[in-house]
Amino acid sequence: MVSTPVSQSSRSGADYVHQADSENGHSRSPNQSLLPLTAGVNGHDHLEVGGCDVKALVEQYGSPLYVLDEATLRASCQQYRDSLQAHYAGESLAIYASKAWNCMAVDAIVNAEGLGIDVVSGGELFTALKAGFSAEKMYFHGNNKSREELVLALETGCNIVADNWLELNTLAELAEAQGQATAVPVMLRFTPGIECHTHEYIRTGHLDSKFGFDPEQQQAVFQFFKSHPQLHCLGLHAHIGSQIFELQPHHDLADVLVRAFVDAKAQGLPVTELNVGGGLGIRYTESDDPPSIETWVKQVCTALTAACETHGLELPKLICEPGRSLIGSACVTAYTVGSQKEVPGIRQYITVDGGMSDNPRPITYQSLYRSVLANKMSAPLTETVTVAGKHCESGDVVIKDALLPKTEPGDILVVMGTGAYNYSMSSNYNRLARPAGVLVQGGESDLILERETYADLVRFDRLPDRLSR
Ligand code: LLP
Repeated sequence: MVSTPVSQSSRSGADYVHQADSENGHSRSPNQSLLPLTAGVNGHDHLEVGGCDVKALVEQYGSPLYVLDEATLRASCQQYRDSLQAHYAGESLAIYASKAWNCMAVDAIVNAEGLGIDVVSGGELFTALKAGFSAEKMYFHGNNKSREELVLALETGCNIVADNWLELNTLAELAEAQGQATAVPVMLRFTPGIECHTHEYIRTGHLDSKFGFDPEQQQAVFQFFKSHPQLHCLGLHAHIGSQIFELQPHHDLADVLVRAFVDAKAQGLPVTELNVGGGLGIRYTESDDPPSIETWVKQVCTALTAACETHGLELPKLICEPGRSLIGSACVTAYTVGSQKEVPGIRQYITVDGGMSDNPRPITYQSLYRSVLANKMSAPLTETVTVAGKHCESGDVVIKDALLPKTEPGDILVVMGTGAYNYSMSSNYNRLARPAGVLVQGGESDLILERETYADLVRFDRLPDRLSR
C-alpha cells in the first residue's frame, strides 16, 4: 500500500506522521520523533508502520498489540554507533540498557547492530544470552544482585558492575572459591552527586540515591581491589537519571568520572573503561524537545575528551548505555476502543482494552502520551476525551484530554512512544493477559511476543489438594 503525503496544515492524526526529509536523505533522530520513522498513512486512511497497516495487524494478532518498528530501532543503534565513531578518538561502545525492553528479538537486533548490553538481573542476563550476546559485551548491573545471580555472572564470564560492599565481598569470595583462571572483570559504580531535572523516581545521580558507592568511599574501594587480585578493576561507571533533555549534567559527569579515573590509575588500578550511563530523553508530546542522539553523543565525547586533556589522561574506552532513546520511539501500542461515558459538563471518557497493565508509566510517573486513531488518520480532531484503561482503578488513565476525531467502539487507538518501559514494566493486574508484540519491517510482520492466554495466567497457581475437594 502506497503512503500518501499528508498536509501539515490539517488538524488530524496524520499531522503526527513523520515526514522524512527527502532533500538530503536525513531523517530526524528517532528520539525526536513521536511516531516510528516508517510511519505513514495508506490509501485506506490507516496508519502504517514498517509498511504494515496497523488495523490489519490488530485483526491478525489481536488487541492490544505492541508494534515495534525494526527500522527505527536499527536507526537509533546506528546513530549511537556512528556518532561515537565520529566524535571520539578512542575506543567506544554503546550498550543497550535492556531494562527498557528486554526480550529475545529486541536483544538479537541490538546484538546484530554491534552494540553491547546492560542487564540488571539473572533474567535479563539469561534472555540476552539466549538472544546470542557474547559475555564480553554484557555488563551486569544491579544494586542487590543475589549470590545466585553473581554465580551465574561468573559462569557466564560477563562484566560485572559492582554497586556496594556486600557485592564486592561476595564476588571476591566466589572468585577465590571457584579458582577463576582469570580475574573477574569488574566496573565500579559511583554516585556522582549530580542533580538533573527529571521525575524524582528516575533520578539516580544525586547523593541520596540507593545506587552505587558514595564518592567518599572511593579510596577504600580502590584499596579493596589492590588486596583482591582475583578481581580486575576494569573501570568506572555512573548514571545520572532518565528522560533528561539537558546536556550540562552529562558534561559535569565527564569531569567527575575522569577525576575518579585518574585517581584509580594513580593507585595502580588497571582501569581502561569509563561508562557514562544513559539518560537521553525522547519526545512524547509536541512540547518535548530532546537533543538528537548525535548531539548528545557529541557532547559526552567532547566533555570527556576535554577532561582527559586537562588531566593528561590517555582516552579510556568510552561506554554509554542508552535505553529509552534507543527503543522508546520505535514502538506504538494499538488498542481497540470500547465503552464510552460522558460526565456532562465535565469529561468524556473512552475506554480501551488495556491500560496500566501494559503501560504503567502514566499512573506511576504521570507520564504524558499522544494518540491517533489508526483507522481514521485524516479525520479532523474535534473531540477532547480522556482515554481510560480497563482496570479497576480510577487512576488507570492512559491519556487525559486527548485530542481525537469522533470515536466509535471498534476504532483502533494507537498510543505513540511506548517502546521503553512499557512491556518491560507490564503486569497481569486484574489478571489481564499481557499483549502480543510484533516486529514490523518492509511490509512484513513477525510475532516476537506471544499474547498470554488464560491458561498462562494460572500456570504458576497451585491449588492445595484440601482446597480442591
Ligand atoms: N544505565 C543505568 C544504570 C540505568 O539505571 C538506566 C535506567 C539506564 C542506563 C538507561 O537509562 P535511559 O537511557 O533509558 O534513560 N521506568 C522509568 C525509567 C527508569 C530508568 C531506570 N534506569 C520510566 O519509565 O521512565
